[in-house]
Amino acid sequence: MSHDLWRDAAILRADPQLTALVAEAVAVRERAWVPYSGFRVGAALVGESGRVYLGVNVENASYGVAVCAERTAVVSAVAQGERRFREIAIVTDATELAAPCGVCRQTLAEFALAEEGQDLFVTLVSLGGTASRLQLSALLPLAFTPRSFQVRPIR
Ligand code: THU
Repeated sequence: MSHDLWRDAAILRADPQLTALVAEAVAVRERAWVPYSGFRVGAALVGESGRVYLGVNVENASYGVAVCAERTAVVSAVAQGERRFREIAIVTDATELAAPCGVCRQTLAEFALAEEGQDLFVTLVSLGGTASRLQLSALLPLAFTPRSFQVRPIR
């Protein structure tokens, strides 16, 4: 299955580019603003240009205002003019694998699943010892994307 590409941190370490990307996500994670949950998340998003855009979760005294690390990275990339992406690495210190929330999947899909055949690799690392690499299309099957507007509703 496409979402079982990697389930092994050793395989992850065998890819130097991915290792470097994960290291960036690990480092930026320290900057997360998480006074309420204490759950730090770091994200490193690679654009088609090769540039890396970093994100952390930023919480708020008004809890619902919190923004996830993945969305912080996407917003930063788009603000800097990049809209096509190769890979995102997401790091938490959970033991179990922590996959992006539904809102972040949808935000990533806006850019990464916009065109036929397009996809995005998502590398998940839980510092508790689990890693996995899968595709966004597996995380968000049958996604509503910009292409969905061209589909006529069934009556
Ligand atoms: N969080 C993320 O940053 N990314 C996710 O995909 C899931 C959750 C953050 C939001 C909040 O600051 C903390 O994790 C606990 O939910």
